[in-house]
Amino acid sequence: MMFLPMIRFFLKPYPCTLLLLLLTCTCYPSSEAYDPLDPYGNITIKWDVKSWTGDGYLAIVTIYNFQQYRHISAPGWSLGWTWAKKEVIWNMMGGQTTEQGDCSKFKGEQIPHCCKKDPIVVDLLPGTPYNQQVTSCCKGGVLSSWKQDPINAVASFQVVVGRAGTTNKTVKLPKNITLKAPGPGYTCGPAKIVKPTRFITPDKRRVTQALMTWNVTCMYSQFLAQKAPTCCVSLSSFYNDTVVSCPTCACGCQGNSSQSGNCVDPDSPHLASIVSNPGNNSIKPLVRCTNHMCPIRVHWHVKLNYKEYWRVKVTITNFNYRMNYSDWNLVVQHPNFDNLTQLFSFYYASLTPYGAINDTAMLWGIKFYNDLLMQAGPLGNVQSELLFRKDKSTFTFHEGWAFPRRIYFNGDNCVMPPPDAYPWLPNAGSQQKVSLLALMLTFLVTLVFYSYV
Ligand SMILES: *[C@@H]1O[C@H](CO)[C@@H](O)[C@H](O)[C@H]1NC(C)=O
Ligand SMILES: *[C@@H]1O[C@H](CO)[C@@H](O)[C@H](O)[C@H]1NC(C)=O
Ligand SMILES: *[C@@H]1O[C@H](CO)[C@@H](O)[C@H](O)[C@H]1NC(C)=O
Ligand SMILES: *[C@@H]1O[C@H](CO)[C@@H](O)[C@H](O)[C@H]1NC(C)=O
Ligand SMILES: *[C@@H]1O[C@H](CO)[C@@H](O)[C@H](O)[C@H]1NC(C)=O
Ligand SMILES: *[C@@H]1O[C@H](CO)[C@@H](O)[C@H](O)[C@H]1NC(C)=O
Ligand SMILES: *[C@@H]1O[C@H](CO)[C@@H](O)[C@H](O)[C@H]1NC(C)=O
Ligand SMILES: *[C@@H]1O[C@H](CO)[C@@H](O)[C@H](O)[C@H]1NC(C)=O
Ligand SMILES: *[C@@H]1O[C@H](CO)[C@@H](O)[C@H](O)[C@H]1NC(C)=O
Ligand SMILES: *[C@@H]1O[C@H](CO)[C@@H](O)[C@H](O)[C@H]1NC(C)=O
Repeated sequence: MMFLPMIRFFLKPYPCTLLLLLLTCTCYPSSEAYDPLDPYGNITIKWDVKSWTGDGYLAIVTIYNFQQYRHISAPGWSLGWTWAKKEVIWNMMGGQTTEQGDCSKFKGEQIPHCCKKDPIVVDLLPGTPYNQQVTSCCKGGVLSSWKQDPINAVASFQVVVGRAGTTNKTVKLPKNITLKAPGPGYTCGPAKIVKPTRFITPDKRRVTQALMTWNVTCMYSQFLAQKAPTCCVSLSSFYNDTVVSCPTCACGCQGNSSQSGNCVDPDSPHLASIVSNPGNNSIKPLVRCTNHMCPIRVHWHVKLNYKEYWRVKVTITNFNYRMNYSDWNLVVQHPNFDNLTQLFSFYYASLTPYGAINDTAMLWGIKFYNDLLMQAGPLGNVQSELLFRKDKSTFTFHEGWAFPRRIYFNGDNCVMPPPDAYPWLPNAGSQQKVSLLALMLTFLVTLVFYSYV
C-alpha cells in the first residue's frame, strides 16, 4: 500500500526510461526540464524599459530565481544574448559586460560600454561604490533559492541601450538568451512582451509603470548540466548493526583510467600540499578517497523508538577538499514529514508541490552557525536530529519505511543504496519480498536515469 505513492512519484519524472525498461525501445531523455519536487521552478528574467532615450532606451533587467531549492553559488551567474540589430550598450550600472568588443567606429566623446553583438553580463562584486549600484545588485552573481531567502534570490542591473528602437513599436527584443550558473544547465525561452510592470513607491502613495516589459523564462535540466552525481546516501538504524554505505562508484571510481576521478588519502603525508595546490583544474572536486567518490554524503540514522515518536539523526559530510558549501540545502522526501514535531539546529520548510501531499522537507543551516559546510576534514560536517510523531495507521520499521525516499543536496539528486541492502528488522526477511520488488524497480529506474547523464 504505502509504496504506491512512491511508485507514482518515480513514474512521473522518468516516463521515457520506464518505457525503456518495459519495452526496451530506444527512446532518448527529453531535454525538457522537469523536477517533480519543484515542478514550476524557473528563473525569470524581466526587462523593464523605464525611459526612451535619443537613440534607444534605458532598462532595468531583473533576474528572479523562482526555484524552491536550487541556488546559484560563486562564481555566479552570467547572462548573454544576441542583439537583433546593431544595438550597443552605452553604459551599465549594477553589472558589467565581460568584454567591450570593437568600438572603433565611435569617434565622439562617449565610447560605449560594449559594442559586441552578443554581450555577456556578469554581476558586480560586493563592495562596489554606491554610485555604480542599483537595488539588488552586486552580490558577485550569487543567488539564493526562493524558499531559503527570497530577497537574495533576485538580482538586477541597469542598461542604457543605443542604436535601438525608441518606441514600443520599433524596439527589437534581444534574441538567443543564455544563462550560465556558472556552467551549463539552463535553457531560456524567447523574450515575450508582457503587461508593463507596475512599480509602487516606497511610501505606497503612487504607482508608476514601465513603458514596456518583456520576460524570459529559463529552466534547469540535470541532463544539460551533464553532471555526474555529486552526492550519495548511507543508512543505519538502531535495530540492525549493519551500516549500509553509499553505493560503490556512486559518483565515480577510484583508479587511473581516464574516466576515474582523482582522490587523496586523508593519511597521505602530502595532503596539505596537494590540497593547497589547485593545479590545472581547480574547479573539479578533489575528494577524499572513498568507495563512492562523492563530494557529499548524507547519512540517515534511525536512532530511537519511543511510544508516540521516533527519532532520526541526519549527518551531511563534505569529502571535497576544494569546496566550502555556503548556504547549502537538503531536500528530503519521507511520508512522515507531515508529522515532524521537532528539529534541531537546521531550518525547515515544507515543500508541497502537489498541494495535499506534505511529505517533502527542505532543510538548511542557521546563519553563522552551520550554514557553511566546511571543506573535507574534521570540521567538514553538519548534523541534526528530527523527531517525528507516529501516525499509527502508517508507521512501521518494516520494509525500509523509516528511510528516506529521495534526497537532494543543493538541488542534485543523491544516489541511494539499492533497496535490498537496506537494514532489515531482525527476522523480517519474508515480509520484505513484496515491497522489495517495488523498491528494486525504483532503484533500476534511477540507475537508468543516471546512465544517461
Ligand atoms: C516561473 O515561476 C513562477 C513563480 O513560481 C511562476 O509563477 C511561473 O508560472 C513560472 N513560469 C513558468 C513558465 O513555469
Ligand atoms: C505601445 O504604446 C502604446 C501607447 O503609446 C500602447 O497603446 C500600446 O499598447 C503599447 N504596445 C505595447 C506592445 O506595449
Ligand atoms: C545562440 O547562442 C549560442 C551560444 O552562445 C550559439 O552557439 C548559437 O550559435 C547562437 N545562435 C544564434 C542564432 O545566434
Ligand atoms: C514576468 O515576470 C514577472 C516577474 O517575474 C512576473 O511577475 C510576471 O508574472 C511575468 N509575466 C509573465 C507573463 O510571465
Ligand atoms: C593503472 O593502470 C595500469 C596500466 O593501465 C594498470 O596495470 C593498473 O592496474 C591500474 N591501477 C589501478 C589502481 O587501476
Ligand atoms: C597542466 O597543463 C600543462 C599545459 O596545459 C601540462 O603540460 C601539464 O602536464 C598539466 N599538469 C598537470 C598536473 O596536469
Ligand atoms: C574554507 O573556509 C576556511 C575558513 O574560512 C578557509 O580557511 C578555507 O581556505 C576555505 N576553503 C576553501 C576551499 O575555500
Ligand atoms: C507539513 O507538516 C509539517 C509538520 O506537521 C507542518 O509544520 C507544515 O506546516 C505542513 N505543511 C503544510 C503545507 O501543510
Ligand atoms: C499527522 O499529520 C496529519 C496531517 O497533518 C494529521 O491528519 C494526523 O492527525 C497527524 N497524525 C498524528 C499522529 O499526529
Ligand atoms: C541487518 O540488515 C542486513 C541487510 O542490510 C541483513 O543482511 C541482516 O541480516 C540484518 N541483521 C539482522 C540481525 O537482521
